[in-house]
Amino acid sequence: MTVLEGLLKKIILHLVIICTAAFLVSCSMENYPVDHEQLSEEERIVIRFSHVVGEDTPKGLASRRFAELVEERTDGFVEVQVFPNSFLYRDGEELDALLKGDVQMIAPATSKIASVVKEWQVMDLPFAFESAEEVKEYISSPVGKVLTKKLEQEGMYFLSFWDNGFKQMTNNQRPLYEPEDFKNLTFRIMESEVLEEQFHLLGAVPHVETFDQVFPILEKGELQAQENTFSNIVNKNIHSVQDYMTVSNHGYLGYLVIMNAEFWQGLPDEIQIILLDVLQEVTEWEAELAEEVNQEKYEFLNTCHCIEIHQLSEKEKLLWEEALNPLYDSYVERFGAEYIDFIPKFKE
Ligand code: LMR
Repeated sequence: MTVLEGLLKKIILHLVIICTAAFLVSCSMENYPVDHEQLSEEERIVIRFSHVVGEDTPKGLASRRFAELVEERTDGFVEVQVFPNSFLYRDGEELDALLKGDVQMIAPATSKIASVVKEWQVMDLPFAFESAEEVKEYISSPVGKVLTKKLEQEGMYFLSFWDNGFKQMTNNQRPLYEPEDFKNLTFRIMESEVLEEQFHLLGAVPHVETFDQVFPILEKGELQAQENTFSNIVNKNIHSVQDYMTVSNHGYLGYLVIMNAEFWQGLPDEIQIILLDVLQEVTEWEAELAEEVNQEKYEFLNTCHCIEIHQLSEKEKLLWEEALNPLYDSYVERFGAEYIDFIPKFKE
């Protein structure tokens, strides 16, 4: 055999080995595809996540980041489809959709969960919390654990708590300094008996409306006032149809990130672990973001010359607290003092 023939034989042998290896790899790829995007929706895990706010809000941004990270960490095997802006379901409807399994994940404000687990209205009590840290402390306290357990009993699995921030009062009639200034003002509220009672005690007239209706209703003048965070006020352009804002920080707006419990229990352990790990990361990121976004929107409102802003003074705050105190008594009467005792400011 010449040197050339020997070389040729070697090359052919190598080619045969390479082709066989490639064939074997392609066979195994058929059984265990690694490019999960090639799988149909039936073969992948799809999580439909519905919410009511804009994409450029703490909740909107966090849900998108959650979807991206889950897709990345599962190589596309789990797909989180986010539907923002009440696109699929409005307030109230989204909770029903979750319980029926039409969507698998939602993140409603705590006030909205109160229609199913009434004790959650503790979060709506006026001036209960002084910072986002206090809210987190309460949620992870023994009472918070009992509250989240109650969600499970109703078919919802609690995954995490996301922040927005403190609510402020706005209206198109007059500045709000003292409780008397609220007299007869018509307020849009979220569905919560504590919020309803809060405005009754101030002499105002509360109306429950879904979030997607806040701007149109205020614009048409059907209602005069509302309470919300800087982020939601600016994102929904509410400031353009309101003339006065009182920075009162009287109530906290936070979200319960929840899944349909049956769907959660049906997920493989390794997927549950990835989802919880990603959520922990996104929750920390979201908390910082919520603070930044609200600060940024507050600065915008402060300089836009589009709304008159009043900062509630300590003296005025005492008057508001005095007027609203009966809410604590009625809460204790209905649900027990233990829910109040664990609020950080009452623990000291
Ligand atoms: C509202 O209805 O005012 C808010 O709960 C909307 C939201 O989810 O931030």
